[in-house]
Amino acid sequence: MNALVGLLSHRCNFYIATMAIWRPNLDLNSSNRASAIADAIATDIASGRLAVGDRLPPQRILAWTLGLSPNTVMRAYDEARRRGLVAGEVGRGTYVRAQVPALPRGGLTPLSRSPDGPVDFSRNLPFTGAAAEELAATLAQLGKEPGLADFLDRGEERVRAPQLAAAAAFLGRLGLDISPPSITLANGGQQGVFAALMALSRPGDALVVEALTYQPIMAMALHFGLRLVPAAMDGEGVLPDAFEAAVRRSGARLAYLMPTLHTPTTATLGLERRRQIAAIAERRDVTVIEDDVFGFLPRQRPVPIAALAPSRTVFVTSVSKSMAPGLRVGYVAAPSHLLPAIETAVAVSSWMPPPLMAEIARRWIVDGTGARLNAAQQAHAARRQLLARRLLGNRPYLADPDGLHLWLPLPPEWQMGSFAAAASEAGVRVNAGDLFAVGADKPSAVRLCLSYEMDDRRVEDGLAIIADLLAGGGRMVT
Ligand SMILES: Cc1ncc(COP(=O)(O)O)c(C=O)c1O
Repeated sequence: MNALVGLLSHRCNFYIATMAIWRPNLDLNSSNRASAIADAIATDIASGRLAVGDRLPPQRILAWTLGLSPNTVMRAYDEARRRGLVAGEVGRGTYVRAQVPALPRGGLTPLSRSPDGPVDFSRNLPFTGAAAEELAATLAQLGKEPGLADFLDRGEERVRAPQLAAAAAFLGRLGLDISPPSITLANGGQQGVFAALMALSRPGDALVVEALTYQPIMAMALHFGLRLVPAAMDGEGVLPDAFEAAVRRSGARLAYLMPTLHTPTTATLGLERRRQIAAIAERRDVTVIEDDVFGFLPRQRPVPIAALAPSRTVFVTSVSKSMAPGLRVGYVAAPSHLLPAIETAVAVSSWMPPPLMAEIARRWIVDGTGARLNAAQQAHAARRQLLARRLLGNRPYLADPDGLHLWLPLPPEWQMGSFAAAASEAGVRVNAGDLFAVGADKPSAVRLCLSYEMDDRRVEDGLAIIADLLAGGGRMVT
């Protein structure tokens, strides 16, 4: 017994010496100490003393620190778990959960393209005009077919199998040679990423991301109680050394990356860096969620990381950027040991995308409509990028000729928030760079999305306002 106490106190001292241990402010006179500890957890979360993903001390160690029995602390943690404050499993530790899943700053506002009001460069959505006629023709054709009612059922095999075959063809054009059983359908890329995180992470896990990342990932991480670990980037995208250091530092087993037409910087990772990321994923046992929703737009692009490290990559794409975002059809390809959990995550959150929408996407992939719509998006993007080049002059910024957005570093006299506010006051919406920043490093830049506005003249007006503000320097808007 004495040996056990000695060992325990040795381990506790070791733990306390190596970690900043959380210690609740407790009323030790409280008649229910377990509840008092759970209350203290709630108070410390509310005050920010405990953050999402923080690990609570192991039960025995907290008991030892407070001079209470381990049983009391066990009951306290159970109560905190029941109240939704913490999550965890035996052997993995107890972590602070995301409390009320909050949307990222800036919000995810409802969509409505308006010909009036501010010029909106804040939404990264493709031009939808081109798909309208195609949709009318496809719906008319579907309406004449005897099997129409099949699409009202819940994804029967005879409907789903050809849709997965078309998905495999779609992914093949992105350089991913994969068979239909390795793919599942999702409600857009967004749900694909969400389902992958839901399936592959546990509260408290680390998720390595590019230092600037897609805003909803931050909300998802908050929701799942994940620790975001930023990896530094340059103009080509994530730096492999920084990626590996982030993995090593955090012990992460999961990463989310956008190697093609990165949001917000437009960077596309070259083949050599993709190879290095694939090798790191293999070496360090990391699963990479590769978000390739923009993958169809560039006329030239390297193969996906998924083609280089197939057993380490969950590849997510959709028809949103190449055909139409309102179809809400996404494709997730994953190795066989991961796919069933992702399929379950899609099923528990939505069963499946509406079979009728997946069928429209299937037909458009198979009959060449999708390729035509994609070409129309590329032409549209290229035209808008030319407008930007003309109106922003020789000012340095990052863009891709086939990309929908651009990334505009601000001159030193402008502060980012002031610039976004000044643009808004002048009638133009942009995204300030800090909305995408995961770490402390906030880039002084703004993202301009060029495809959301329908009318070229409004885009020209908006760009002229931006150019004017840049030329006028740092007018402070309070
Ligand atoms: C980087 C990125 N990933 C994923 C998505 C989700 O796309 P969707 O769900 O429309 O396929 C978007 C949409 O804007 C995006 O920009």
